[in-house]
Amino acid sequence: MSTLIKNGVIVTAEDIYKGDIYVEDEIITEIGLNIPKKADVVIDAEGKYVIPGGIDIHTHLNIHVGEVTASDDFYTGTVAAACGGTTCIVDHMGFGPKDCDLMHQVKVYHGYADGKAVIDYGFHGVIQHIDDNRLEELKKLVIEEGIPSSKMYLTYDFRLSDYEALRLLKRQKELGGITAVHCENNDSIKYLKEYFIKQGKTQPIYHALSRPTEVEGEAVNRMINLAKIAGDAPLYIVHLSTEIGLEYIKMARDRGQMVYAETCPQYLFLTEDKLRQPDGLKYIFSPPLRKEKDSTALWSGIKDGYIQTVATDHCPFFYKGEKQFGKDSFADCPNGGPGIEERIPLMFSEGVVKGRISINKFVDICSTAPAKISGLYPKKGHIAVGSDADMVLIDANKEVTITKDILHENVDYTMYEGFKVKGYPVLTMVRGEIIARNGQFVGKKGYGKFIKRHKINQL
Ligand code: URP
Ligand code: ZN
Ligand code: ZN
Repeated sequence: MSTLIKNGVIVTAEDIYKGDIYVEDEIITEIGLNIPKKADVVIDAEGKYVIPGGIDIHTHLNIHVGEVTASDDFYTGTVAAACGGTTCIVDHMGFGPKDCDLMHQVKVYHGYADGKAVIDYGFHGVIQHIDDNRLEELKKLVIEEGIPSSKMYLTYDFRLSDYEALRLLKRQKELGGITAVHCENNDSIKYLKEYFIKQGKTQPIYHALSRPTEVEGEAVNRMINLAKIAGDAPLYIVHLSTEIGLEYIKMARDRGQMVYAETCPQYLFLTEDKLRQPDGLKYIFSPPLRKEKDSTALWSGIKDGYIQTVATDHCPFFYKGEKQFGKDSFADCPNGGPGIEERIPLMFSEGVVKGRISINKFVDICSTAPAKISGLYPKKGHIAVGSDADMVLIDANKEVTITKDILHENVDYTMYEGFKVKGYPVLTMVRGEIIARNGQFVGKKGYGKFIKRHKINQL
């Protein structure tokens, strides 16, 4: 099967130029002006941007948290991703039973995803405790299973101690992997939650007030120092939400430390005021929403290269369902919100169209850098001969008002209801197959493949 994409404006993290792209089977085999070859499928991309497919390296499809399960599974979640211009995800596996080995959740997650996902996918490992056996197993995870990144937490039930974190960081470095970390200071949250709840302060805004910016700042700073102590181990800070956290990252990167940071659209476009609304439960996730000044700092961090990636932390629960567990207290509300389908349109419109970032930077933070940091590049995250034919056509003139009704996420709200965006994905291709066109899914359940990732590329 061959496909010719004609006359598009091809955008990579570095270049922008007009040309044709020839695809044979799953791979890009030629790029040039007026490629004279015939093809089984010809796509007219005149007037459209052709970008490498979006790569979202922070999702939680089908995750079980206590008694609740995220409402998007690997089918519905990846359909939504495809319609929003994302062609590959790396999903964070949820916690398994206490003391389980590292392979436990890998098997569980293959059961969730294989035969269901419509776009390609990988998993991040989840580290619940560290001992000699876990450190030995990490080699199998990184080398044999193709999972070179794993997440550890500084809060929640299975948080690691600093001693465990040091051992993990060191081992990941030896193996060519990377440690992703959820940075929040657990004891501060515990203390502040108790403080507010004792006073009957249980409305959604107290979710944010019990996790002030220093909760993240302290944990970011601690992890950066631990990574240094562990022999300059690479560190990936997920869902960065604060200016203070960014300041620590700046300091470390300016000193040459291999620290990478991810932020998410919710921290760029929404503020904690959302938690004061009557429907504030919709916006309960961790870390919480912040103030305008944090969002402004995060945009600067992206522009200046201190923040390398924008991912979603997509973890949806129905507002009229599980989110209502929090109606009497924020502490009982499942943490998480949707966003897998809105990321690319929001970042294009609010980022590129509004002049906050260049179109190359947009491609970099939404596709190329995530691919590099997670060991997918240059198979994914790039438009080049030999890369997978994962591409998205963006119509820069298409104006769309984001509402729940136009989205495919299996949840009853979007956090961006009423946002007007200019520029929207109009075609999504994964390994040479068109799987979404003009907001409609046209692919096949189970087409997505598990991608064994390689060692991380340093940026
Ligand atoms: O509230 C959130 N973000 N839920 C998902 C789990 C996590 O910590 O990323
Ligand atoms: Zn997290
Ligand atoms: Zn998450």
